[in-house]
Amino acid sequence: MSYILSIESSCDDSSIAITEIETKKLIFHKKISQELEHSTYGGVVPELASRLHAVALPNILKECKPYFDKLSAIAVTNEPGLSVTLMEGVIMAKALAMSLDLPLLGIHHLKGHVYSLFLEQEALLPMTVLLISGGHTQLMEVKSFDEMKVVAASSDDSFGESFDKVAKMMGLGYPGGPIVEALAKKGDDKRFNFPIPLAKSPRMEFSYSGLKNAVRLEIQACSKDEALSEQDKCDIAASFQKAATAHLIQKTKKYFKISYKNGGNFAIVGGASANLYVREAFEDLCKSYKLKTFFAPLEYCSDNAAMIGRAAIVAFENKKFVSIDALKAHPKSPL
Ligand code: KG4
Ligand code: ZN
Repeated sequence: MSYILSIESSCDDSSIAITEIETKKLIFHKKISQELEHSTYGGVVPELASRLHAVALPNILKECKPYFDKLSAIAVTNEPGLSVTLMEGVIMAKALAMSLDLPLLGIHHLKGHVYSLFLEQEALLPMTVLLISGGHTQLMEVKSFDEMKVVAASSDDSFGESFDKVAKMMGLGYPGGPIVEALAKKGDDKRFNFPIPLAKSPRMEFSYSGLKNAVRLEIQACSKDEALSEQDKCDIAASFQKAATAHLIQKTKKYFKISYKNGGNFAIVGGASANLYVREAFEDLCKSYKLKTFFAPLEYCSDNAAMIGRAAIVAFENKKFVSIDALKAHPKSPL
């Protein structure tokens, strides 16, 4: 049996995994999140994130030493992400590959999110995949590891980012997704009539900046005379989450109408796919189109090295090795 060691540091999670190549089994996985450190700023501060990776990654690596003699490759997320944080993982991967004399694999972060679906079940492709994270909102036709076609993407903010910004506007901390989802459960989603983005536009694209501004104006109006009450925050969260999700549903439905008439597979991945309100909405939509719906296990929705390791097995099987000199971090790298 042989293992791949994979490293993820594209944003604010330092994570390393060891995956068995033959069985695709996860042998070791650890992740140190920096949410607390960034929460005072209401978002990720790249320089701080990179300094925290420089401490956390070597600490996790120490725990991987017992597996070193069974390693067959080193994999690392090298695109896309924050330039300074990607570099932390890339430098560590190069040093490991050099000192242990192992081949290197550079893994695209978004492919990692897609393969998070196959951590606890067999790979099942082709599939239509909606990726909703802090950095991306895109609908993709996924045929194989090498054939992933984006059919709609956000022209401005991403879905997860809009949750982060709404939370920040209400002084609720970071990451905003789980906080807004929790508040929304106690709120009245009909109190505020936020516009569903691009509702009348025929374009296959996503947009969240207009909705974010509508929420900003409502928050300003509600807090003109006195601070927002707890109930105000819950109602804003619920009304916002409803409009944000309706936008995903409308555009995906539009795509289904054109492309899917006789069943198939559909999945949602990325940090925001942990949102249960979103999951339920898509389960209903997929039922009416007779599509099977798939989600990644909740603990592997947000960034992690386990999904990078799972994708790395495919890259390993296809011998997609890169030399130490050729491996570079690519901060902006669409699929
Ligand atoms: O995939 P991820 O860990 O990082 C990126 O690749 O961007 O996604 C993080 C994003 C954050 O914007 C976070 O607020 C959002 O996912 N998120 C959520 C939820 N949990 C995390 N958004 C909505 N509802 C959630 N429950
Ligand atoms: Zn991600």
